[in-house]
Amino acid sequence: MNTNAMSIIDAQTKKLVNTVLLDDVDLGAANPWGVACPADGKTICVTHAGTHEVSVIDAAAMLQKLLAMPADEKAAADVPNDLAFLVDLRRRIRLNPGPIFQAPSTEGSELNGPRGLAVVGSNAYIAVYFSDAMAVVDFESKPGSLVTQIALGTKPKLSPQRRGRLLFNDAALCFQHWQSCGSCHPAARVDGLNWDLMNDGLGNPKNAKSMLLAHQTPPAMISGIRPNAEAGVRAGIRHIQFAVRPEEEAVAIDEYLKAIRPVPSPYLVDGRLSPAAERGKTVFFDQNVGCAKCHPEPLYTDLKMHDVGSRCQYDRRSTFDTPTLVECWRTAPYMHDGQYLTIKDLFVRGKHGNKDGQIDKLTEQQINDLVEFVLSL
Ligand code: HEC
Ligand code: HEC
Repeated sequence: MNTNAMSIIDAQTKKLVNTVLLDDVDLGAANPWGVACPADGKTICVTHAGTHEVSVIDAAAMLQKLLAMPADEKAAADVPNDLAFLVDLRRRIRLNPGPIFQAPSTEGSELNGPRGLAVVGSNAYIAVYFSDAMAVVDFESKPGSLVTQIALGTKPKLSPQRRGRLLFNDAALCFQHWQSCGSCHPAARVDGLNWDLMNDGLGNPKNAKSMLLAHQTPPAMISGIRPNAEAGVRAGIRHIQFAVRPEEEAVAIDEYLKAIRPVPSPYLVDGRLSPAAERGKTVFFDQNVGCAKCHPEPLYTDLKMHDVGSRCQYDRRSTFDTPTLVECWRTAPYMHDGQYLTIKDLFVRGKHGNKDGQIDKLTEQQINDLVEFVLSL
C-alpha cells in the first residue's frame, strides 16, 4: 500500500531533515504532485493529483515540531510512519464539493487532477490537468467560497479512453483513497519498485510492470497468473484498490491502456537505430544467440512461459511469462525481482539467454551492441 509523503531537506547543509506523511489515519492523500510556498514562506502547499485536494501546511509549526526532536532519537525515526504527525498543522482543502468517495469526472464542473501550482499570498493557483482549468484557492476565504475555477479552454470531451485515463489516475477508486493505479504505474508505466501483491500469494514481491502492450500480450503478470490484462485490471480494482466498481469503469480503463503507444526510444538517432544498435540487431536475431526465439518481433515476446534460471529465493515457481522488450529503456530495474539495474548487468552478471543461447560466447563489443539494440526498442 502506498503512503504519501513530503521530504524536507536543509538546502544549506544538504541534509535530509525528515519525511512527513501527508495522509490521515484513515484517509490517504494520494499522488502528491506539486509543492510551492508563498514568498513569506509561512505555508507549504502540496497538490494531491489523485484525491483532487491541496494541503496547506503551517511551515513554521511543522519545522518547530521536527527540529524539537533530536535527530538520533527514536521519535525522529518514527516520523515517516506517523500518520498523525500533521494533525493541527495542516488543512486539507478539497477542490470539489459533493460526496468524498465519488470519482470526479470532467463532465460536470468538477476539478480533476490538480498538479503544478504557484502560491501568492493566501492564494494558490493550480493547474488542473484533466479539466483544462486553473483552480484558485484562497486559504483566507470562508468555507464554501475557498475554490474558484478559471477555464483554460473548452471542456474536454470524455472519450472512453480519456475516461479510463481519469479513472486510472483517480484514488477515489481506492478504499480510503491511499493510491491510484497511477501511483505504481506512473504515466501507465512503472515506479521501479517491488510490491508484494495478493494475486500470487504473500511473501514474493514483484517489480511493477508497464501497461504498454499489456492487453496485446496475454497472459498477464510475470507469473502469468491472470489469463489477460482485462482480468488483471479487474483484479487490480478488487485486490489492490480494495474496491467494487461498476464494470464500465474497468472497460474504460481497458480502452485507455489499449490506446497507449510506445514512445520512441531516446537511444534512436534521428528516429533510426544507431550504428551500434544496428550491429546489436544482428546479434539479437542470430540463431545461435537465440534472443528472438522467445522475444520475436513485432511484440518481442512469444507470449509463453519459460524457465530462464531467474527464480529467486522468494519465488514459488521457476517459469515466467516472457515480457515484451518494447520501451525497455524506461522500465529499469529488470526481471521480475528487479535484480538488475541495467540491461548490460542482466547479460554480464545474470547471463540471461545463456540457457538457450550463447550469450557467454559474445565479445564485450557484441554485448554492448546488443544492449544498445534492446534499449532502442
Ligand atoms: C501497489 C502498487 C500497484 C498498484 C496501486 C497497481 N498496480 Fe498494477 N501492477 C503492480 C505490480 C507490482 C505488477 C506486476 C505484478 C506481477 O508481475 O506479478 C502489476 C501488474 C499489472 C498488470 C499486468 C501487466 C502485464 O502486462 O502483465 C496490469 C494489467 C495492472 N497491473 C493493472 C493495474 C490497474 C488497472 C491498477 C489500478 C486498479 C493497478 N494495476 C494498480 C503494482 C501495482
Ligand atoms: C527461453 C526464452 C528466452 C530467451 C532465449 C531469452 N529471453 Fe529474455 N526473457 C525471457 C523471460 C521468461 C524473461 C522474464 C524473466 C523474469 O522476469 O524472471 C525475460 C526477460 C528479459 C529482459 C528483461 C525485461 C524486463 O522488463 O525486465 C530482457 C531485457 C531480455 N529478456 C532480453 C533478452 C535478450 C537480449 C535475449 C538474448 C540474449 C533473451 N532475452 C533471451 C525469456 C527469454
